Amino acid sequence: MAVDTESILPATAHLLAWYDAAARALPWRALPGAPPPDPYRVWLSEIMLQQTTVAAAGPYFERFLALWPTVEALAAADEADVMREWAGLGYYARARNLCAAARAVAAAGAFPTSAAGLRALPGVGPYTAAAIAAIAFGEPAVVIDANIERVTSRLFALPDALPAGRPALEAALRPLVPTDRPGDFAQALMDLGATICTPRSPRCLLCPLAPDCIARRSGNPQAFPVKAPKRPRPLKRGTAWWIEHAGEVALVRRPPRGLLGGMLALPSSAWSVDAVLDFPFAADWQLAPEPVRHGFTHFELELQVAIVRAPDRLNGIAGQPIIWTPREGIAAAGLPTLFARAATVALGLSLQPARETETA
Ligand code: ADE
Repeated sequence: MAVDTESILPATAHLLAWYDAAARALPWRALPGAPPPDPYRVWLSEIMLQQTTVAAAGPYFERFLALWPTVEALAAADEADVMREWAGLGYYARARNLCAAARAVAAAGAFPTSAAGLRALPGVGPYTAAAIAAIAFGEPAVVIDANIERVTSRLFALPDALPAGRPALEAALRPLVPTDRPGDFAQALMDLGATICTPRSPRCLLCPLAPDCIARRSGNPQAFPVKAPKRPRPLKRGTAWWIEHAGEVALVRRPPRGLLGGMLALPSSAWSVDAVLDFPFAADWQLAPEPVRHGFTHFELELQVAIVRAPDRLNGIAGQPIIWTPREGIAAAGLPTLFARAATVALGLSLQPARETETA
């Protein structure tokens, strides 16, 4: 695709020429220079790619499109089905927002076509709005994700750590955004960050921006982006309860707001930094030898797994109604990764028979 090199800075032309030859073929993309893809595909992919790698999101994207090929189909879907299909992708508020946004778009009859309009959709923040506007609607929005942050901070050898350096980064990148191919430009930067301008060992010899890159000239491109000192994440602890009765396992649905909100889960104690082992009723609980460790954005979790055979088919636990689920159906129930791992641990243990006298 021809680029008007006179009206744009050389780095833009270098980048787009590289993208024309080296763009990754991804299921939500148009070919370089081709008309933009369906906004539904762009929006769905951008929501999935928030906090998730291209490799992890790909199969989910294909499955969602097979189940719900249009935004109207997704708007009509049962939210529980969408949550189940989302299981394993993490950041589950995204799935609830996905349903709400699909309904808003279906009711309006079309996606908003500007970054400002897209921002009004649930789950669409400044980055996602800019990405959809650029890729689906050709708006010359400045798109900045983690890869683009790294590429840009190296290209201009920006001295300030993020997030404080963010306005300077945006101001540096803005003049490079071409009006004719802003979506390709954004995705070219993403690809460059993913394949060449990588965090630890950038492959500068292969980089189309090598002639333009100030950090490369400095001899130490890895020094960018400048890092702010990291705050350690606290370690929280908790106990997940695997309660079996007559071949069924007690699951609960987590409250709609908050961590893993709306997802199926094993019932569990509260999670806190000073938690001690905690059980919902007195019984012959068996503890897995090792806790499950899981990283959340703001803390690490060490979840003990405790299993028991319940003498009765309880209705509720810790104030939540129980969803009794066949033991063999647990793997396909749509548990998020943390609880799927806890369930795998529990399934590997063998239960003692129930001792009536000890249960309360
Ligand atoms: N990450 C977020 N959006 C992306 C896209 N469109 N292509 C590649 N990686 C991405």
